[in-house]
Amino acid sequence: MDNSNANTAAMAAATKTALVTGSAKRIGAVIVKTLHQAGYRVIIHCRLSRQAADALAEELNLARADSAKVIQGDLNNETIYNNLIEQAYQCWNRLDVLVNNASSFFPTPLGHITLDDWNNLVNSNMKAPLFLSQAAAPYLKQVNGCIINMVDVHAQKPMKQHTVYCAAKAGLAMITQSLAKELGPKIRVNGVAPGAILWPVDDGSKGEMAEHTKKLILERTALKRPGQPTDIAKTILFLARDADYITGQIIAVDGGRNLNI
Ligand SMILES: NC(=O)c1ccc[n+]([C@@H]2O[C@H](COP(=O)([O-])OP(=O)(O)OC[C@H]3O[C@@H](n4cnc5c(N)ncnc54)[C@H](OP(=O)(O)O)[C@@H]3O)[C@@H](O)[C@H]2O)c1
Repeated sequence: MDNSNANTAAMAAATKTALVTGSAKRIGAVIVKTLHQAGYRVIIHCRLSRQAADALAEELNLARADSAKVIQGDLNNETIYNNLIEQAYQCWNRLDVLVNNASSFFPTPLGHITLDDWNNLVNSNMKAPLFLSQAAAPYLKQVNGCIINMVDVHAQKPMKQHTVYCAAKAGLAMITQSLAKELGPKIRVNGVAPGAILWPVDDGSKGEMAEHTKKLILERTALKRPGQPTDIAKTILFLARDADYITGQIIAVDGGRNLNI
C-alpha cells in the first residue's frame, strides 16, 4: 500500500459512525444531516419511511461517497434489536454514536387505553432504546462512544391524556441516568428533552393536536415560539462530539417550556 492509500485507509477507519433510529424524516433526518455535515458516517434507521430514508442516504452519498446507509426494522419486534445493531456495526465496522430517536406518540385517555397502545408507546420510547443500547455497548466501548436518548419535557411533568407516552419517556430518562452510571467510564449516556419543535403529524388514526392546544403550549413557552429541528440536532452534535466530561444529563431544548408546564 503506498502512502496516500494508507492515509485514505487510516482516515476511513478513523471516521466516526452514528446510528440514528427513526431518522428518515423530521427531527431524526435533521440530526442525521447535522452529524453528516460534521464528518460522521451515518446509518439511517427507518420502519415505514423507506423511500424517504433511501432519498436522504442518496443525497448524503452524493455529497460524500460511502457516507450514509439505511437499515430498516419495526421496534415493536423485539427480536430485531440485536440484529439492527449488528447491521449498523457491519456498515463500517465501528459504531461511535447511538441516537435513540424513533418514537410513537398519540393520546391514551384513561378508559380507552389498550394493551396495543401500551406496547406501541413503551416499545419505541423505552424498551427499544434500552435493548439497542445493550446490544451496542460492546461496540461503543471499543471507541469510547456515546448514547443519546431523545426524551421529552413531559418525562418530568405530565401531559394530559398521554399517560403511557409520558411514563415511557420518564422510564427513558431513568434509563439514561442508570446506563450512564453503569457504562462509564468508556461510554457516555445523555438525553435531550425537546419541548415544542414539530407538531405531531395526524396519521388519521389517533386524531390531530387541536389548534387551541398548540396555542396554549406556545403561550406557556418562555420564548413564545416553537423550536427548530436544528436546535435539537446542534445539541446532539454537541453531546456526541464536544461533551467529553458530560454524562447522565438530560438537556432540555424547549425554549423554557418546562418552567411553566
Ligand atoms: N416533535 C417534537 O416537537 C418533539 C417534542 C418532544 C419530544 N420529541 C422527541 O423527539 C424525537 C423525534 O421527534 P419527531 O417528532 O421527529 O418524531 P416522529 O416523527 O413522531 O417519529 C420519528 C420516527 O419514529 C419512527 N418510529 C415510530 N415507531 C416506530 C417503531 N415501532 N419502530 C421503528 N420506528 C418507529 C418512525 O419511522 P418511520 O416513519 O420510518 O415508520 C418515525 O418517522 C422523538 O423521540 C420524540 O419523542 C419530539
